[in-house]
Amino acid sequence: MNIAILSRGEYLYSTQSLLRAGAVRNHVMEVLDPTKCSLSIEEGAPRLYFCNEVIDDLHAVIPRIGASNTFFGSSLVRHLEAMNVFTVVTAESILQSRNKWTSFQLLSKAGVPVPKTVLGNVFDIEEVLASFQKRPVILKVLQGTHGQGVILAETYASALSTIETLQSSGVRFVIQEYIAESKGCDLRAIVVGGRVVAAMKRQSKSGDFRSNLHRGGSSEPIRLSEAEKRIAIKAAQVLRLGVCGVDILQANQGPVILEVNSTPGLEGIEKTTGVNISEKIITYIERQSQR
Ligand SMILES: Nc1ncnc2c1ncn2[C@@H]1O[C@H](COP(=O)(O)OP(=O)(O)O)[C@@H](O)[C@H]1O
Ligand SMILES: [Mg+2]
Repeated sequence: MNIAILSRGEYLYSTQSLLRAGAVRNHVMEVLDPTKCSLSIEEGAPRLYFCNEVIDDLHAVIPRIGASNTFFGSSLVRHLEAMNVFTVVTAESILQSRNKWTSFQLLSKAGVPVPKTVLGNVFDIEEVLASFQKRPVILKVLQGTHGQGVILAETYASALSTIETLQSSGVRFVIQEYIAESKGCDLRAIVVGGRVVAAMKRQSKSGDFRSNLHRGGSSEPIRLSEAEKRIAIKAAQVLRLGVCGVDILQANQGPVILEVNSTPGLEGIEKTTGVNISEKIITYIERQSQR
């Protein structure tokens, strides 16, 4: 098959790992940098150019769309969908999962447990904060990644002043219950084709509550409980992601979903667990093409 990775970083670990896995299985692999693509509609049909050359022989793509490139990246994926190219994550699923509020709405509607969360566009901040029983809250920018845009407001006064600051700067955010009992740990499960293929536990570095590896957190492999596995698979299914990273917090009431990432980094999880996730992604594409 001709398989393209949509990525701005040809030399990034994840891209290289996917290129290798595809080559090992005798696929023709290439990297398409979205910033070098141009999309057009000609005589009613979608056309894709890469560095001014027509691309019309792709069978499948693996989008690795960065948060700063969501609009164009998802547009490119939608274009490929219209060209009948198989994609492991659709444009719609990228957009839905990238917006933390939209994904919480969809997940909770489907019965997937998520922390108590309020959209930051609130009429009466004091009333909303009172509903969190004056406990610490998390304030989260809707499109943040890598732990940037996640704030722990430990007191009522800091929550109030931070919310006012976010509101006056026009930033979209949510107010969320702080799951203190997770003690700076979260679980990252990788779901490929409806199966959990790897999982790790991430621990924040001391002095931080955010366990993102980009924030200096550490990680170890872990076996998920049946309940954790079930909600990870359900989350991927609800957001229609063929490949995703699902972040789970272990709360007192049971596991809750924190976010679902349509472009999970592969370096941390492959090195931590020893699982060749790229190979799982390639074999998932092969299975889909045989359907
Ligand atoms: N409600 C919460 N309670 C406790 N810890 C949280 C909560 N929300 C986020 N965190 C911590 O912050 C990290 C980053 O939050 P997350 O929502 O995944 O944003 P990002 O997209 O930036 O990774 C999580 O991995 C977790 O360690
Ligand atoms: Mg996260």
